[in-house]
Amino acid sequence: MKILPATEANIAKAAKAILAGKLVVMPTETVYGLAADAANPEAVRRIFVVKDRPAENPLIVHIADAGQIEAIASAFPEAAQTLAGRFWPGPLTLVLPSAGSVAQECTGSAGTIAIRMPAHPVALALIRTSGRPLAAPSANRFMKLSPTKAEHIDPEIAKQVAMILDGGPSEIGVESTVVDCTNSSPRILRPGGVSRGDIEAALGGPLGSLPSHLPRSSPGMYSRHYAPRAKVLLVTRLGPEMTGLTFDEPANDRQIKMPLSPSAYASILYDCLHRLDFLGVEELAIQAPPEEPEWEAVQDRLRKASA
Ligand code: TXA
Ligand code: MG
Repeated sequence: MKILPATEANIAKAAKAILAGKLVVMPTETVYGLAADAANPEAVRRIFVVKDRPAENPLIVHIADAGQIEAIASAFPEAAQTLAGRFWPGPLTLVLPSAGSVAQECTGSAGTIAIRMPAHPVALALIRTSGRPLAAPSANRFMKLSPTKAEHIDPEIAKQVAMILDGGPSEIGVESTVVDCTNSSPRILRPGGVSRGDIEAALGGPLGSLPSHLPRSSPGMYSRHYAPRAKVLLVTRLGPEMTGLTFDEPANDRQIKMPLSPSAYASILYDCLHRLDFLGVEELAIQAPPEEPEWEAVQDRLRKASA
């Protein structure tokens, strides 16, 4: 495996690889990303091949300072500025009208571009050292579990990248919240690391809602996604023979007791699923978390893992 510690020397090597059109797996605070130079169409196309991702699913472009937005987005509405000011660097992605400076493969069908400034020092260092905005989806195969540790990376993906920079476990543990800011009232396309409540508090009002028939304007909206190999069942309580995640005292050593705080739960969720999946069991049972707004991102991932 090409897992390398994220030292300054290795980050410099990774930046060279990016500039040569290669792919690098980089740590972020949400999940590990499969990064390429966002301005290099060939490199961006390779991301889709390596992930086995449908071409119509646009990518998030990662920046290291707000000055980079001007070149990438043709408008930066006030609400988006407020959210960037409050949550960047961090687990928030803003969808803005594209200025057309990055590879077309990164942009959505309506000429939009998703932009995020990650809070991980290694991701920021890689963006700065390469001097390029980096297109980076989660570094998993399409529909599979996102990696939150270097060791989670699928060997098939590892083979096709220049290197995997190991930056330790991703602290947030679920993907960024994606907010569409191309309309007068911003709305969440994918719940994630920043809660709806915190976004509404920052905006001083409620977010817009999505039409229920919305087609796949966002790949995060496929009903199955984020899935381990095993079949996932959401249950009210785990039976003593089941393998899975519980809030109760574990009844066997294939049950993991999960924290009752949504952020602590999210932080370890994918790692727990990777670990249990590694046991090779056929079924994973997950005790459903409380139906409360702070659990929105976790609920979304569990629903999609079990669909
Ligand atoms: O936390 C994250 O967001 C991670 C790390 C690596 O930054 N990245 C990530 O990328 O989760 P990916 O490709 O797995 O998910 C991208 C999400 C999808 O739900 C997609 O719908 C949305 O971002 N997206 C990207 N570009 C978009 C666009 N132009 N319009 C609407 N949605 C977009
Ligand atoms: Mg993903």
